[in-house]
Amino acid sequence: QWTTASIVDEQVTRIREQVGDGRAICGLSGGVDSAVAAALVQRAIGDRLTCVFVDHGLLRAGERTQVERDFVAATGVNLVTVDARERFLSALAGVSDPEQKRKIIGREFIRVFEQAAQDLQDKEQYDFLVQGTLYPDVVESGGGAGTANIKSHHNVGGLPEDLQFKLVEPLRALFKDEVRRVGLELGLPETIVHRQPFPGPGLGIRIIGEVTAERLEILRQADAIAREELTSAGLDRDIWQCPVVLLADVRSVGVQGDGRTYGHPVVLRPVSSEDAMTADWTRLPYDVLERISTRITNEVAEVNRVVLDVTSKPPGTIEWE
Ligand code: XMP
Repeated sequence: QWTTASIVDEQVTRIREQVGDGRAICGLSGGVDSAVAAALVQRAIGDRLTCVFVDHGLLRAGERTQVERDFVAATGVNLVTVDARERFLSALAGVSDPEQKRKIIGREFIRVFEQAAQDLQDKEQYDFLVQGTLYPDVVESGGGAGTANIKSHHNVGGLPEDLQFKLVEPLRALFKDEVRRVGLELGLPETIVHRQPFPGPGLGIRIIGEVTAERLEILRQADAIAREELTSAGLDRDIWQCPVVLLADVRSVGVQGDGRTYGHPVVLRPVSSEDAMTADWTRLPYDVLERISTRITNEVAEVNRVVLDVTSKPPGTIEWE
């Protein structure tokens, strides 16, 4: 553990040298990288760091609480939450095309973040922006043909291009497993440190069809059940991630009690992977699949069918959009 402790010490020293007595802003996404970067900078400069968390309404159940309550409790960081749920829903109204959704979410995110940064600037001078860039990100943006060509990837907390900040990137030399160790060393909760990958555009790209508040609520419930059952089966570390996808424009006939139903299917997409560039569908135990299916169809009124995606990547991507 001394190596992890020494990484922390070294980064804290560097951050102090770079920032001096200045102030920094950090966008939190709920993910591991931004959380660990923020925690390191907090350790170095204390309350001269302010974190900004944009709730775009496309989060999973409990994710906002995890940032607002658990992350703040663990670090004592200054946090500003921007509730932009209505704004994102209006911007997404009537849009079903996956690339268009991604572009809208990315664009709105940057606008909201910029406004939040400007509001902070109006009160005090902030010269630095903290980014959770990892070593593999540095290598990848050196110009390889990554998945960015297939889908326009959007990292929440990504750099708004015309903001006049100097970058603080304390994770630039680290791999993911080192970042997780640093997070634990800094006292972050396991739920944050070992969170599985979740896309920046969130549930917006897991609703096939238009994104609406009602559909988000349906998907949030189904997703929470799948995650609960996978966690209680002890499978979180065995799978890379398991997107739950709502086929919002599809309906099928079912029967429940004495009545006919006409509801939506959800797709389970459990995958195993090393780096998300390729993936295999995970052979989940049948009893776990059965529990997930039974609970989702019993507990989520609008869902009457659960289907399993058995496609590898390639040819399928991990996300459906
Ligand atoms: P695909 O669907 O391209 O996903 O096979 C590969 C991995 O990337 C995640 N993903 C994203 N992550 N912003 C992100 O930060 C994005 O826009 C985005 N799109 C996909 C996906 O969850 C998987 O782990």
